[in-house]
Amino acid sequence: MLLSRLIPLVCSWQLVVGSAAVYNWPDPLLDNIDDQLHVDRFTTLNVLSRDCATRDGTTVGAQWLRMAFHDFATHDIYTGKGGLDASIIFELDRSQNIGLGMRRSLVDFLGAPTEYVGMADIIAMGAVLSVVGCGGPALPFRAGRIDATKAGPETVPEPQQDLDSHIAAFKRLGFNKTEMIGLLACGHALGGVRQADFPLIVTPDLPVGVTFQVPFIFNNSIVHEYLDSTTINVLEVGSNISTRSDLRIFSSDGNVTMNRLASSDVFNTECTNLIRRMIDTVPSTVTLTDPVEIIDYKVQATMLFPSNGSLVFLATMRIVQDIFIAAELLRPNRTVTMFWKERYGTFCPEKGCSTEYFELDFESASLYGFFKGVTQFDYHRFRAEIDLNTSISHFWFEVDPKNGSAPLIIDNHGANYTIDQDVLLFDPRRSSFTKGGSNMVVAVKDPSGHAAVSAFTTISGSPLIPWPVNTSATTHFALDPSHPPADGYKFYSAPISDRALSNTLHATVSGKAYSQWVPLLTAPGV
Ligand code: HEM
Ligand SMILES: *[C@@H]1O[C@H](CO)[C@@H](O)[C@H](O)[C@H]1NC(C)=O
Ligand SMILES: *[C@@H]1O[C@H](CO)[C@@H](O)[C@H](O)[C@H]1NC(C)=O
Ligand SMILES: *[C@@H]1O[C@H](CO)[C@@H](O)[C@H](O)[C@H]1NC(C)=O
Ligand SMILES: *[C@@H]1O[C@H](CO)[C@@H](O)[C@H](O)[C@H]1NC(C)=O
Ligand SMILES: *[C@@H]1O[C@H](CO)[C@@H](O)[C@H](O)[C@H]1NC(C)=O
Ligand SMILES: *[C@@H]1O[C@H](CO)[C@@H](O)[C@H](O)[C@H]1NC(C)=O
Ligand SMILES: *[C@@H]1O[C@H](CO)[C@@H](O)[C@H](O)[C@H]1NC(C)=O
Ligand SMILES: *[C@@H]1O[C@H](CO)[C@@H](O)[C@H](O)[C@H]1NC(C)=O
Ligand SMILES: *[C@@H]1O[C@H](CO)[C@@H](O)[C@H](O)[C@H]1NC(C)=O
Ligand SMILES: *[C@@H]1O[C@H](CO)[C@@H](O)[C@H](O)[C@H]1NC(C)=O
Repeated sequence: MLLSRLIPLVCSWQLVVGSAAVYNWPDPLLDNIDDQLHVDRFTTLNVLSRDCATRDGTTVGAQWLRMAFHDFATHDIYTGKGGLDASIIFELDRSQNIGLGMRRSLVDFLGAPTEYVGMADIIAMGAVLSVVGCGGPALPFRAGRIDATKAGPETVPEPQQDLDSHIAAFKRLGFNKTEMIGLLACGHALGGVRQADFPLIVTPDLPVGVTFQVPFIFNNSIVHEYLDSTTINVLEVGSNISTRSDLRIFSSDGNVTMNRLASSDVFNTECTNLIRRMIDTVPSTVTLTDPVEIIDYKVQATMLFPSNGSLVFLATMRIVQDIFIAAELLRPNRTVTMFWKERYGTFCPEKGCSTEYFELDFESASLYGFFKGVTQFDYHRFRAEIDLNTSISHFWFEVDPKNGSAPLIIDNHGANYTIDQDVLLFDPRRSSFTKGGSNMVVAVKDPSGHAAVSAFTTISGSPLIPWPVNTSATTHFALDPSHPPADGYKFYSAPISDRALSNTLHATVSGKAYSQWVPLLTAPGV
């Protein structure tokens, strides 16, 4: 990340103050959304949209923002149906959704959804990250959209339609005429019209790859170029008059709104509000969370499994850093200790069993994370050997800054990090991981050896739709003779496809139902 680019952006950022989504572990939705938004990791979306990356003669961000608009454009305020619900997946064959960018965007989003995070949240996130990645403001992001299971109405506005149709279309979407002008100017600050997809608009006399505004950056040049008549936007000045929809809309109130948007502060404030409203437009049956903020102390990557006479418990405590430099110098003083207590009987001292972290590494924050004042995340990795007989019921952490201030107890807001059961456990050591999928091994504490073990697997794609629609499969596990009983557990296994996004294990042992969510089938680092 280039600091030179970042600093002016940080200065223009206006913090949105309001209530934030409350995070209590475990929360697979907020956990994942926090990662996707704030961490600069190759598996997260912000890496693709970073620095307004160009692609297909436009930018990745422009493709994502248009996708969000088209998905939203099926909303109907009168019925409360449609909106940001990923119904676009079922609407790609319509002429109103023509364009290479749609399929490209979905391919970008393929690996992101899980059983808990819908494609609709990812499409909305694409809009947020596209704006920030192209130098615009950081919009608040709310989570919890639910994916549609079928197409919505064919109601995306098209350039050859007249002004009255557009006013009516936006009214149905919940945006009045002033707001329509604003949202259009914000949306068409990115990208352009492709000749390959719109040959009747981008006529042969025009250069290939004409854009809505000159630079590939999210700012209000589109407004200035409109007002001073220097625009090259084909939806304003193209030779086909019937498709000059931007011109018709921009001028529809005597330029009052466009003149107001000529101030870049007004433009950024209004775009923040309008695009946020666009992506937060969901079916009336859906309730979104409050905006997702960075989790200061976050427990991640927990695993519990039997191994050679004890239960191994792995956990990571992620702590935010808010300084650019010298983080390395400041860290060694801080101690981070994990504590835990027994599930059965007594074994630990009164204060709890404890261990120090064995490894410390870090990742950079994303640009969106930088806007929220976080520069990097420190990962304190713990590995505890838990007594098999007394097991573990809950854990917590003590962070001592060693600077004279009192140590901090991190205990999930007083509720402790609770391990709900030790009967059904994903065993990462006995599982094997290959390119084509994995052989998933599950440890079951079951004296009878007749447990019914299955996994509900969320998979990417279906025979009908090549996109990660929220389809699922149930896999049944069988006792695995290659892993003889050990440490009081019996081992069951089943092959899991590499298209699996996540698995929820289920077992009934002695009449009692147990489940465990396994987010990612990867081998642990230790
Ligand atoms: C009357 C309303 C609108 C019409 C008729 C319209 C029409 C179009 C057309 C024809 C394209 C070219 C697509 C391509 O070549 O792939 C386009 C691109 C785009 N539109 Fe709109 N649009 C409208 C409103 C909006 C709104 C409200 C937004 C977002 C808030 C938006 C965002 C975009 C973006 C980002 C692109 C660039 C895509 C790229 O470069 O790949 N549009 N629009
Ligand atoms: C995915 O499907 C499961 C099972 O049908 C459902 O419980 C869950 O809410 C769905 N997730 C999303 C994000 O739509
Ligand atoms: C649209 O609504 C905004 C408030 O969000 C208001 O300021 C504006 O005057 C309205 N415009 C029209 C044309 O009703
Ligand atoms: C938009 O950004 C570009 C590139 O930094 C700059 O040349 C242009 O002047 C900006 N437009 C406005 C209206 O600030
Ligand atoms: C609005 O601005 C456009 C572009 O500068 C100009 O052609 C048009 O005459 C203006 N309309 C009004 C009513 O001022
Ligand atoms: C202009 O666009 C409209 C709508 O797409 C189309 O029907 C018409 O044929 C086009 N006109 C010319 C001259 O290309
Ligand atoms: C148990 O220990 C043996 C020898 O120390 C080692 O080879 C084996 O991989 C260990 N098993 C597990 C499940 O950790
Ligand atoms: C665990 O319990 C078993 C049976 O009660 C006992 O034989 C064994 O010694 C205990 N192990 C430990 C480490 O306390
Ligand atoms: C870390 O500890 C050393 C030695 O006690 C002390 O000199 C230094 O100021 C401490 N650093 C911080 C950031 O508190
Ligand atoms: C010690 O460090 C903590 C965490 O970084 C900070 O909140 C606190 O203000 C510091 N205390 C002193 C006395 O510097
Ligand atoms: C959390 O754990 C501590 C230590 O075992 C215990 O004293 C406390 O009662 C627990 N709190 C809750 C809410 O369970």
